[in-house]
Amino acid sequence: MKHKLAQLIDIPMDAWSEHSIQTDHGFVSVMVKRSATQYTAFINECPHQGRRMDYAENAFLETPEKQVVCPAHGATFDPESGVCLAGPCAGQSLKKLITSMDDNALYVAFE
Ligand code: FES
Repeated sequence: MKHKLAQLIDIPMDAWSEHSIQTDHGFVSVMVKRSATQYTAFINECPHQGRRMDYAENAFLETPEKQVVCPAHGATFDPESGVCLAGPCAGQSLKKLITSMDDNALYVAFE
């Protein structure tokens, strides 16, 4: 099912931001990054122990190589695939969402 995440203008360029959306099962937190060519979105939940990937409002840790870092126990994730590259959940993955645009807004699809 497709959900409106945010207006495109509210998604910063080259930085992760957090957006909550309401689904039939309650609120879901989504992390999204906008680049010049694409939007990448994951459920904002580490596969290790389910902790949030942001440590404060719209604040995410990244390595110098732009891998995303879980603030709880330091797992690092590929910023495009969401695969955990190192840490306690190596080989697992953030849940990637399918994105689409319509009417100057970004939508994500859940299974
Ligand atoms: S909850 Fe993310 S590394 Fe442990």
